[in-house]
Amino acid sequence: MKDAEESSNGKRRFRLIRGFRDLLPPETYLWNRLEAIARAVFESFGFGEIRPPILEAADLFEKSIGEDTDVAGKELYFWVDSPRANKGIRRVRAVDKNSAMRSTSTDSKVRDELLHQASSGAFDALAETDLVTLRPEATASACRAYIEHGMQQLPQPVKLYYLGPMFRRERPQKGRYRQFYQIGAEVLGGSDAPAIDAEVIEMVMTFFDRLGLTGVELDINSIGHAADNCRRGYVEKLKAALEQVKDKLGGDSQRRIETNPLRVLDSKLEHEQPIIEKLPRLADHLCDECRTHYAAVKRQLGLRGVIFKENWRLVRGLDYYMRTTFEITAKGLGSQNAVCGGGRYDGLVELLGGPPTKGIGFAIGEDRLILSLQESGKGATAQGRDVYIAWMGEHAYAAAVRAAKDLRSAGFSVELPPTELKFGKALERADKLGSRYALILGDNEVAEGTWTLKTLADGTQQKFTEPELLEFLRKP
Ligand code: HAM
Repeated sequence: MKDAEESSNGKRRFRLIRGFRDLLPPETYLWNRLEAIARAVFESFGFGEIRPPILEAADLFEKSIGEDTDVAGKELYFWVDSPRANKGIRRVRAVDKNSAMRSTSTDSKVRDELLHQASSGAFDALAETDLVTLRPEATASACRAYIEHGMQQLPQPVKLYYLGPMFRRERPQKGRYRQFYQIGAEVLGGSDAPAIDAEVIEMVMTFFDRLGLTGVELDINSIGHAADNCRRGYVEKLKAALEQVKDKLGGDSQRRIETNPLRVLDSKLEHEQPIIEKLPRLADHLCDECRTHYAAVKRQLGLRGVIFKENWRLVRGLDYYMRTTFEITAKGLGSQNAVCGGGRYDGLVELLGGPPTKGIGFAIGEDRLILSLQESGKGATAQGRDVYIAWMGEHAYAAAVRAAKDLRSAGFSVELPPTELKFGKALERADKLGSRYALILGDNEVAEGTWTLKTLADGTQQKFTEPELLEFLRKP
């Protein structure tokens, strides 16, 4: 079995599934700090948090992202969530466990059982919601929730943000995981005023700025709207131009001429670059309204002091976008350098069965943001404990427990060793944990009522009574 191996005691040792990670301390300190800053910045722009579920109906994403896209067409984790299918799988595994042929035969047995169920019509009566998926993103979920909870009755626009894991079955590499985390925001309802587009982008840039992230680049574009005199007309022209150069393109681009010609503009293949540069440009084919909207977005960004670069090839990989699209790249990430992507998606709520509704938003890839911060030396993690209590003796232990309680409730991080250690050993541990101070408590100190505090950085020691100690530590 791929993700497990046998350990020295003969038991199966479990390991992570490919593309999945454990996030561990002290790095999680950085994740938490970053998330706290995101919340503070987004809330200062009037956004409130939404926590949609991780499991949704598969067709929510197929419909909104588009079945011809990589994300919805190839990368969804989905399965049939019906009591019948679950029972079938459990039955196969039970049989399998009792047999001598463990693990190697599991996959084929499960497959055979599922095929058998499918051919015997077991899935025919499935409701649409029985096909579920781990969410690959949260824009569609936010739109579903907007409709489901009648948020169009609230003062518009509704401004939502979210943080959490997303799942895409991509080929894992640096900065690309099968479970990754996004920090995103969506503005739903109200008008499509260009000031909204600009403010959403200003908010991301403010967040990056607050983190001290340097070397970020913002690319923007307008992909117009789906009408003959705008994007649809352009796509026809693009298709015709691509047909002319089809022989010179790689297999992926050749296929995309049929399925999604705009995505050819996304190609990173070196030999395709000079060909793409000569293709007709969408900016020359925008309708008057979309062109005016785009010009106003750029003006509004200027007003806010947001620096951007126009990129006519920025089309984004999800079908729901229209007009403004944007992407932000950061340093130190190699080929997976997009830390944020977003855009306008008027019409998505309607597509999902809601009323005509404007929408715009973005999502930041948190894993990549963390990587970029670390590469640029801004990824400081937690300092060690504030105080390590080095205690010896029964009376000292009772005082140490009390001191730990008082110090923790005063907001300090405290390490209290559970068993007695010689002072030398205890100070060694305190040092290893990166503690700032060691509080030395022996029976003598307790009897005298004066406690010794050692500053580990310089080895100096001071004596305090219990109340004096708290007062000293509280000083900035
Ligand atoms: P996206 O461009 O698919 O857009 O994803 C946004 C960001 O998520 C990417 O720029 C990247 O940083 C991160 N990301 C995507 N896939 C992975 C992965 N496999 N591993 C690590 N990071 C990844 C969306 O998801 C849209 N829902 C954004 C949006 C919100 N548009 C409007 N509102």
